Amino acid sequence: MKTIFSGIQPSGTPTIGNYIGAMKQFLALQDQYNCYFCIVDEHAITVPQDRLKLREQTLGLAALYLAIGLDPHRATIFIQSEVSAHAEAAWIVQCNTTIGELERMTQFKDKSQKNGQASVSAALLTYPPLMVADIILYNTDLVPVGEDQKQHLELTRDFTERFNKKYGTENQPLLTKPEVKISKQGARIMSLQDPTKKMSKSDDNAKGYISMLDEPAIIRKKMKAAVTDSSGKIEYDVVNKPGISNLLTIFSAVTDQPISELEAKYSNSGYGEFKADLGEAIVALLEPIQANYHQLLASNELDTLLDQGAEKAALVANKTLQKMKNAVGLGRKSRRKKV
Ligand code: AMP
Ligand code: TRP
Repeated sequence: MKTIFSGIQPSGTPTIGNYIGAMKQFLALQDQYNCYFCIVDEHAITVPQDRLKLREQTLGLAALYLAIGLDPHRATIFIQSEVSAHAEAAWIVQCNTTIGELERMTQFKDKSQKNGQASVSAALLTYPPLMVADIILYNTDLVPVGEDQKQHLELTRDFTERFNKKYGTENQPLLTKPEVKISKQGARIMSLQDPTKKMSKSDDNAKGYISMLDEPAIIRKKMKAAVTDSSGKIEYDVVNKPGISNLLTIFSAVTDQPISELEAKYSNSGYGEFKADLGEAIVALLEPIQANYHQLLASNELDTLLDQGAEKAALVANKTLQKMKNAVGLGRKSRRKKV
């Protein structure tokens, strides 16, 4: 069975962009792969976080993973900071990565330009090596993510190749080189208020996104206010009609209907009716998830499952970490077998 790893930052409540771009894929994959789904809290602290809110969001994200239907008996669900191999492996990755490579990352360029280099943390630059570490520790074959993570996956692939060449032997590579898995549709859900911008849970304008925990009345209201255009025709045309195209993508992902079918169905309808129906479809998707979520948080099941997840993950991660330490010569040889 091939191995999958993916992670989401607990830096806010996931949006339907996260759901469509990442979580929905996780669900479909858990039957066919050995899956690791991580709550990457160490990534979240690359930008300032309120400690209590971070804790709440970390647990909340774990609850959401389970609430959408991920099965902790099949997939390993855990919190990144509870498996210390991640931070340790990230150090070795950093030592084998150049500043030039990291400065080329568009996400770093965007964030540091927005806030000014003097005020961003050094970890914003060294964050991709932590992501590389996350992935390689589990001998990951496939990483399901949204479009925005493609460059980080390229870095991971380059890293494994370089590390294997430097420290491994030809017939026994040390690290597995992963493939990226981006869903054909919905890999980049855009803001409801500005369809040229990615929908993001950290958007200052809450009208730009639908959070997975938004109440039905809020969802309907945000849908109603979603930006479209003046033509009034429901057709998919990303260049000229980015707003309605984004809504069609969301509708298609949420209801599993092809965009062409939706276009045909709404060919004689106005934006108002279309947006109202989409609002209802999102409510129908999220309501049962929200009910599961609240039930999970009220029980103490979550703690036990996360303990088990971290334990299971650590077994695999520590083995790879030891291999990496041996490769670069860290620690004593006599301790080799101890993990
Ligand atoms: P993040 O919220 O940055 O931790 O992202 C978690 C996962 O959701 C990653 O796989 C992202 O690529 C994906 N993702 C985030 N925002 C979007 C979006 N607007 N559209 C599609 N996928 C997204
Ligand atoms: N960097 C990713 C994001 O912001 C989250 C992430 C961290 C991740 N580690 C990962 C995704 C490993 C996939 C695999 O969305």
